[in-house]
Amino acid sequence: MSITREGSLPGVRDAEAAQPALRRRPRRLRRTAAIRALVRETQLTTEDLILPLFVTHESDAMRAIPSMPGIFQYSVERAASHAEEAAALGVRAVLLFGIPAHKDAAGSGAFDPEGVVQRAVRRIRERVPELVIVADACLCEYTEHGHCGLLDDRLEVDNDATLAILERVAVSQAEAGADIIAPSGMMDGMVAAIRDALDSAGYADVATLSYSTKYASAFYGPFRDAAQGAPAFGDRRSHQMDPANAREALRENRLDVEEGADLLMVKPALAYLDVVRQTREQFPEMPLVAYNVSGEYAMVKAASAAGWLDERSIVLELLTGMKRAGADMIITYHAMEVARWLT
Ligand code: PBG
Repeated sequence: MSITREGSLPGVRDAEAAQPALRRRPRRLRRTAAIRALVRETQLTTEDLILPLFVTHESDAMRAIPSMPGIFQYSVERAASHAEEAAALGVRAVLLFGIPAHKDAAGSGAFDPEGVVQRAVRRIRERVPELVIVADACLCEYTEHGHCGLLDDRLEVDNDATLAILERVAVSQAEAGADIIAPSGMMDGMVAAIRDALDSAGYADVATLSYSTKYASAFYGPFRDAAQGAPAFGDRRSHQMDPANAREALRENRLDVEEGADLLMVKPALAYLDVVRQTREQFPEMPLVAYNVSGEYAMVKAASAAGWLDERSIVLELLTGMKRAGADMIITYHAMEVARWLT
């Protein structure tokens, strides 16, 4: 067969001249479901999901959270049953938040060996030994004023005094059997303090998941009802990040990696996908978690309930977008439903 001087087969060139777009047809790879599956770049799987659980000190409770339809505060035993159900659906990890019986100025319920999270960790470990248990380490659910740390004379969060408490929280959670400690208070030096405390207490194998880039976001509203940890006065803008800043996230990430964080996080996810992408590029080697927060969940639930959006398609599209942006894992209140849809 002779090749023309231009390098194409005779005849082909004429056809192209007539219809130049024929050669450039990305739609060829979208033609059938099988081809689309073959060329799909991002896979969302149940194994990517981390299910948050709110555990209350009350016994035998299952209390609905009005702004988060389908999400409940569970007693320790019921939380363990729910964790078992999640594991049966293929979910690999839960993230625990506690609602304690008593709150005080020091947030002492957070490091009580008989505290609600510590009891839940032990019970879940007994009932579902293989499940990865992540414990949120913060004081806002445990302080009477709802702030994430101890307050100084000016009623501002005292960073270093809070670190000393967080060390006790982390060690007590590790002692109970948590696999991963997740400090969420945005205190400077929290990862290093917790790392050192874990190592000296003999828990060198327990990992830290830093809420490394956590914004001062209005998307946490429903969570604060769920965990009863809203600040009684003021806000969290002196420690959580300004939503306008992305370069500052580079610094937060770098410090946390230097301090020994095993996993990084961007929170919230939806309005911060650029930060997820940037973090992925800054630390290609670090496992990265996106937190699909309570307000994001509430928006989807409300619009779906009104019949304005198709819930299943919306949730899968959102979570796929978070993975496409660079997240390896997603903390999401949709985890149980997604696990059911994906099986
Ligand atoms: C606080 C904490 C918050 C969330 C997780 N950990 C609330 C806050 O910082 O005010 C929010 C999670 C969500 O909205 O789903 N320790």
